[in-house]
Amino acid sequence: MLGIIGGSGLTKLPGLSISHRQVIRTPFGEPSSPLSFGDLNGHPVVFMARHGYGHTIPPHLVNYRANLWALHEQKVSHVVSVATVGGIHPDLKPGDICVPDQIIDYTHGRETTFVEYNGKPVTHLDFTWPYCEEMRQRCMDALRRANEPFMAGGVYAAVQGPRLETKAEIERLAGDGADMVGMTGMPEAYLAREIGLCYAAIAASVNWAAGRSDSAAGISFETIERTLESVVERLRGVLINLACMDFNAPPANQDRL
Ligand code: HPA
Repeated sequence: MLGIIGGSGLTKLPGLSISHRQVIRTPFGEPSSPLSFGDLNGHPVVFMARHGYGHTIPPHLVNYRANLWALHEQKVSHVVSVATVGGIHPDLKPGDICVPDQIIDYTHGRETTFVEYNGKPVTHLDFTWPYCEEMRQRCMDALRRANEPFMAGGVYAAVQGPRLETKAEIERLAGDGADMVGMTGMPEAYLAREIGLCYAAIAASVNWAAGRSDSAAGISFETIERTLESVVERLRGVLINLACMDFNAPPANQDRL
């Protein structure tokens, strides 16, 4: 089954008709929100609001482990994260969309693994390609079918937040090879890998990153709000296209715990 993790601006999924909500308890504590079970245009999906339904949980306090555990436990096999980012690459102006294929993790102090000391030999997972390629391809198909242009691949810099960056920090990220910057991509992507979820992200730029283009003097929250609204509306069609796909077969080539 398809799971959708909605970020900023997507605390509710427009067009989702909810059959029931379920509070899930996990060994890692409470998820950000109850899971909403329902359908998008007749196709079953499970929706989770990453920051809670009232958008009250900041990125560094999201219980990523509980969120992914809850989805996994409810038989979700594939997850799309809808993420907002600041654009660093010239092709990621506000409103532009990317399906990233790489991540640099600058976060700290977050719970980054399900692996805890249990006396068993330590295992290490490959994370060369941090997103599930099958899910990336599905996201890109869904975007194409919705006639939404997008950047196919890019480097997502995951930062700690909740503050936005300084101009110098963005220049450093650009020098490191980052194309976009967001606050929630890690440890989410890695935890999904650990637990065997086929996970990819659709990243929507809602502002130029600090110091770039019309964010030279500062980032305008009014622009973010306005862009977010129109992006969410456009992504609705993309998510419907995704939901129409068959998610019954288990994902291929997934490392599992
Ligand atoms: N920086 C970090 N995260 C973000 C941004 C940004 O400029 N825009 C949306 N999420």
